[in-house]
Formats: sequence, structure tokens, C-alpha cells
Amino acid sequence: MNRGYFITGTDTGIGKTWITAGLLRAGAQRGWRTVGLKPVASGCARVEGQLRNEDALLLMEHASEPLAYEQVNPCALELPVSPHLAAEAQGRAIDIGRLAAHCHAVGARADVCLVEGVGGWLAPLGPDHTVADLALALDLPVILVVGIRLGCLNHALLSQRAIRESGAAMAGWVANVVDAENLLTDGVIATLAERLDAPCLGTVPCLDTLDAGRIAAHLDTGALWKS
Ligand SMILES: Nc1ncnc2c1ncn2[C@@H]1O[C@H](COP(=O)(O)OP(=O)(O)OP(=O)(O)O)[C@@H](O)[C@H]1O
Ligand SMILES: [Mg+2]
Repeated sequence: MNRGYFITGTDTGIGKTWITAGLLRAGAQRGWRTVGLKPVASGCARVEGQLRNEDALLLMEHASEPLAYEQVNPCALELPVSPHLAAEAQGRAIDIGRLAAHCHAVGARADVCLVEGVGGWLAPLGPDHTVADLALALDLPVILVVGIRLGCLNHALLSQRAIRESGAAMAGWVANVVDAENLLTDGVIATLAERLDAPCLGTVPCLDTLDAGRIAAHLDTGALWKS
């Protein structure tokens, strides 16, 4: 793939998928061919006998290149629990090397390939592996989505430390205001800017209606698309 990024977050449910959709839109606005992948997803619904994940469907919708569902989400797990437990319950093992090779093959069709992780950086994918191992196997720089809410400073700083210790490069971070009631949000974001060592790619406010175009308008992605 020409330009690829691995999207992780401070937690589950903090906006990784929507920020990825916004980044896909921002890339397309620059004229790039884009794809978004969700190699491992738990909490998939059965649709006409097939496991389907909302994140993967959203990424398909916002990519410029049409892909088959299985290309976007090769490892679809049913239970809405940690992927290692969902895989075990299905009698499946998550093969990180195969998933990384798959993502590179699919990503090669586009100028920009964004790969969304699952949960946070150290979410287990199997007895000996975590999301960090998937990101390292992919060999992609990491974008950290910080879900701005109480407790996010600790989660963001722990995530940065863990990403660094894994040996992955951090390309940037995004402040995504997921809690409309959060107090002193400007102070929280200023503290993150002081203490995180990568560039801030934007602050996305808490939106009444989620829309990739509106999210893209809050992102400053110029540095991401340089070759
Ligand atoms: N900027 C925002 N404003 C308002 N709501 C948001 C914003 N970003 C995300 N949300 C809401 O937060 C929830 C989680 O978003 P999203 O699915 O993108 O998170 P995630 O980190 O990808 O979760 P998962 O761990 O399940 O992959 C969604 O219900 C979404 O509507
Ligand atoms: Mg998601």
C-alpha cells in the first residue's frame, strides 16, 4: 500500500470508526483512492446467515474503492466481547501474519489504506497476541484516537507509552469529543497537546449527527498524505 495508517484508540467506543471515516473522506477530497479495513471485529450480527460488523460496513461506505465484505473484515466474530474470547467461542484462532498479508494485498489497490484496530492498543487477539502485534505485523504508523471524556488523559498517556514500547511509530492523534457533558475540554486537549509527542491531526466536537464530511472538516491531514 502507498500510504497506510493503523487507527487505534484510548478505548472501545471512542470514535475510531467515525474518525477513520473522516480520514477516508479527507483522503478522497485530495483525490486519493481510499480503502478502510477492519481485519478483526467482534460483535458481528448475523445477516442472512453471514456475520456482518457495523464498523466494517461503515468503512466500506466511506471508501472510494468498492470491496467485498470479506476483503474489509476477514475475521468476523459474533460475540460482543474481547476478540480473543469471541474467537475461542467460535473455535477460531486469529492468525496475525495472515491478516497482515491480507490487508497489504487489499491495501495495494488504493493510494490510502486505513486499518482500524479493535478495542485499544493492548486488547488481546489470542493467548500470546494483542492489537499491538497486528499493528507491528502490518508495519504501519499509528494514529491514536483519544475519546475526550473523564479519564482520557490517563488512557491517552498510557496508550502513548505502550505504543512507544511496542516499537511502533505514532503518526498523530485526534481529539474526539465523545462526551457532550465533558468539562474544561479545551484544558484537557491542551494537556494532551503538551504531553503527547505526535502531531494533533484535529479536534472533532461532539456532533448531533455524525457525518464523515463534517468530521473531515475538523481534521488537518496534510502531513498524512505526503509521500
Ligand atoms: N464526535 C462525535 N460526536 C458525537 N458522537 C460520537 C462522536 N464520535 C463518535 N461518536 C459516537 O460514539 C460511538 C462510538 O463511535 P465509534 O463506533 O466510531 O467508536 P469505536 O472506537 O470505533 O468503537 P469500537 O471499539 O466498537 O470499534 C458511536 O455511537 C458514535 O455515534
Ligand atoms: Mg470501531
